[in-house]
Amino acid sequence: MQANEARRPITVPMVRERKGSGPPLVMVTAYDTPSAALVDLAGVDVILVGDSVATAVLGHNDTLAIGMSEMEHHTSAVGRARPAALVVSDMPWLACDLGAKAAVSNAARLIRAGASGVKIEGDHPEIIRRLVGAGIPVMGHLGLLPQSVHAMGGYRVQGRDEVAAAGLRAAAKRVEDAGCFALVLEAVPSSLAAEVTASVGIPVIGIGAGPSCDGQVLVLHDLVGFSPPGTHQARFVRRYGEVGSVITQAVEAFAQDVREGRFPAPAEAYS
Ligand code: KIV
Repeated sequence: MQANEARRPITVPMVRERKGSGPPLVMVTAYDTPSAALVDLAGVDVILVGDSVATAVLGHNDTLAIGMSEMEHHTSAVGRARPAALVVSDMPWLACDLGAKAAVSNAARLIRAGASGVKIEGDHPEIIRRLVGAGIPVMGHLGLLPQSVHAMGGYRVQGRDEVAAAGLRAAAKRVEDAGCFALVLEAVPSSLAAEVTASVGIPVIGIGAGPSCDGQVLVLHDLVGFSPPGTHQARFVRRYGEVGSVITQAVEAFAQDVREGRFPAPAEAYS
């Protein structure tokens, strides 16, 4: 599938240059070829092959469950959509924690699979420097770090007290200085997100970080409602569709037609 061939491909420098100019950046997740093609047709700027694939589609309770081979697999599926949007792929849990050499080799696997950059959770300026030095663009990720769910004591809003807020401001500066081209800020009070956004020279893409960021990201399955009824959704999610009920209704209609002899019709069979 060749998605959106007419659109000019979005590059890392183009995203970097959106700091303070142009409309807010739009990033959504995708984990497979048709989803990547569809979100690209919608004109998003960045497709994130998030490690949220673990919870959104693979049935795990958290993102710690998956590793490099799963991320490589989903990155290559997204890459095969050949989107005009920039493809950034998540470094999964521990991919950056076993030294710079291992981090560079893990990031290279995602670039070879089809990403143009990688996203790293946490305050790891040395690793970021090494990756950038190897020609691998890096997006930072601060605030709520789902890969550190146990250390953080759950999925909680971060930076609520002054010490934590100061730590977050300093970390944002460090990852910027280390060479990140953009930064995701997850689940922090809007006022702190606004301060961080104003204090760094790279685009800040928020999720649960209020309206002052340079862009916004949501998980595709959350925003289109592609989940079973009763699935918990964070406060910061806005649902723009009900794909889950569309799927259930379509399959119910198919099942009814099969059971009552209406499918297949003559035109759907070979003579
Ligand atoms: O994995 C993911 O989808 C993410 C976004 C929530 C930013 O990291």
